[in-house]
Amino acid sequence: MAPSLVETPTEARPANTYKLNLGQYKEVDGHSIDRDIETGKIGGKGAKALIHECQYPHYLPTWNPQELYSPLQPFEHYEHGKDADTSFRNLLPPGTTVTNLTPTIGTEVKGIQLSSLNDAGKDELARFVAQRKVVAFRAQDFADLPIQDALEYGSYFGRHHIHPTSGAPEGFPEIHLVHRGENDKGAEEFFKARTTSVAWHSDISYEAQPPGTTFLYILNKPDVGGDTLFVDSVQAYKRLSPLFRERLHGLRATHSGIEQVNAAAARASIKRREPVVNSHPIVRTHPATGEKALYVNHQCKPCSYRPPTVRRKLTSTVTREIVGMKQEESDAILKFLYDHLAYGADFQARIKWEEGTVVIWDNRVTQHSALVDWENGQRRHLARITPQAERPYETPFEG
Ligand code: SIN
Repeated sequence: MAPSLVETPTEARPANTYKLNLGQYKEVDGHSIDRDIETGKIGGKGAKALIHECQYPHYLPTWNPQELYSPLQPFEHYEHGKDADTSFRNLLPPGTTVTNLTPTIGTEVKGIQLSSLNDAGKDELARFVAQRKVVAFRAQDFADLPIQDALEYGSYFGRHHIHPTSGAPEGFPEIHLVHRGENDKGAEEFFKARTTSVAWHSDISYEAQPPGTTFLYILNKPDVGGDTLFVDSVQAYKRLSPLFRERLHGLRATHSGIEQVNAAAARASIKRREPVVNSHPIVRTHPATGEKALYVNHQCKPCSYRPPTVRRKLTSTVTREIVGMKQEESDAILKFLYDHLAYGADFQARIKWEEGTVVIWDNRVTQHSALVDWENGQRRHLARITPQAERPYETPFEG
């Protein structure tokens, strides 16, 4: 007789025991921090438990359950990259060091201060980032600006997005924080059940108007590790055969924010806004460069980890399905596209953080993944400014 499938009973545990295993890797430390440890009040500098204090306590995450927002309304996005002088003389004056990390994606810039750019320089910044997909600006003073000034700067590029669930500095919900605290055990827990932290995604693609030019700046970093990977989704599109590209044109996929909010609820975190589901073209066109990019969002294997008792009942991708296709057809095409993006090391770049680095990417034409690869308990703390852009649109297939 064939053995029957037996479900091994799991020990009943309080819901919050699971919180470290729910949600995406960067959200695993979820909805509270120990402020005393983070600011060095306990643990003591020099104590084994504490490697260094948080250097930006005003950027420590807070989650205010009283802070509720109504649904986002459509707005007219102005794409400044279209106005740019493509000689980039305001952004990259003589004396600037510009190093391309790969032929199509990733550039490192040294010798300019983003905070000093005039509007012409900001137009060029939007365009340069759209062309190079992701750019690391070294030795910036951005993290030391008052938060209000950093937000004012970011607002040039679009309306600020307020994240439905992430931690934010007190009083500044427009800042999205990525924070793994000193001696945080979330990663250790996470790797008991997962083999990798790689989680390719495009930010908040479930919104009707997802972000364009996006800023991420480092506040605290591990000595080594915690790099961020980026993939060029324009090059990924170009690598496909004309026949396959043509088939993708005209297809739309649904992107859901529901799973992210559910994951936050499961770890007793906040929901600032009701989640939305929107459909977007699978091939979108960039408004400044005219380049076409693949736009599907797996967001991704690590967040599909669920405790064994609930694993089968939940799905966790942002992109759910291709509109009008049967489930198996849609799954097969989406899986191919996710794999194509994830395995395309020949159109990816890896950004290593340095103190003072501001990384700017164009979220319309890239995907990214943080790496959780350091094990010495050092803090990783970053702030993201996420200006929303146009509603994704496509232009006809060009062969
Ligand atoms: C993000 O996914 O927006 C942050 C990436 C990172 O933590 O490196």
